[in-house]
Amino acid sequence: MKKLGMALGLVACFVMAFGVLAVAADKYPNGCADCHVKELAFQPLIKKLYPKHPGVSPTMDINGCLKCHKAGSKLALNTKMHDSHQKAKIACDACHIMKDGKATAELKGVKK
Ligand code: HEC
Ligand code: HEC
Ligand code: HEC
Repeated sequence: MKKLGMALGLVACFVMAFGVLAVAADKYPNGCADCHVKELAFQPLIKKLYPKHPGVSPTMDINGCLKCHKAGSKLALNTKMHDSHQKAKIACDACHIMKDGKATAELKGVKK
């Protein structure tokens, strides 16, 4: 019985350790904001790629983008930018909140 208890204890430790590792392994907890800094920051990037784009402030994050780029609208962001990140082999979970291994429609870093 004592051995079984210890074995179960060890299993519990492993589960906890992996739980912590799984959290620590999220390289992009903030989604867009973790990659789009410095030369990739939204303001210079958008200005360079889309000179006719409306002004983007230096502090604008995904919440600012979504004010104009509403889900389901003509400007929804899941079109061209989805393709370009997929070409760059960026994993779904860099931007999306995942559930059961699948991307939900929810994005990291988006305030509700
Ligand atoms: C004030 C409204 C507004 C805000 C805020 C805004 N956009 Fe836009 N965006 C537009 C409009 C309008 C267009 C279409 C005109 C054009 O192509 O320049 C556009 C076009 C784009 C395109 C090109 C889409 C395509 O498929 O050609 C991208 C990419 C984009 N925006 C990204 C962003 C990102 C990222 C942010 C946040 C940093 C952002 N936008 C913030 C209005 C906005
Ligand atoms: C670079 C960031 C990024 C990556 C990587 C990414 N997405 Fe998205 N995804 C978005 C954005 C932005 C939207 C638009 C969300 C909105 O408008 O609220 C979106 C929307 C979606 C939606 C909801 C709208 C729709 O088209 O049905 C699904 C589902 C989705 N993505 C699945 C995926 C899957 C699966 C992957 C991986 C193969 C992936 N995404 C990779 C940023 C990303
Ligand atoms: C894992 C890193 C990473 C994450 C997370 C990420 N991006 Fe990107 N993004 C990139 C890279 C790399 C490029 C390519 C830059 C270039 O071509 O110069 C790029 C390019 C872009 C472009 C310009 C290309 C295009 O399709 O118009 C836009 C706009 C953009 N990202 C928006 C976003 C938004 C919005 C999010 C969050 C929903 C996001 N990115 C999340 C790395 C990332």
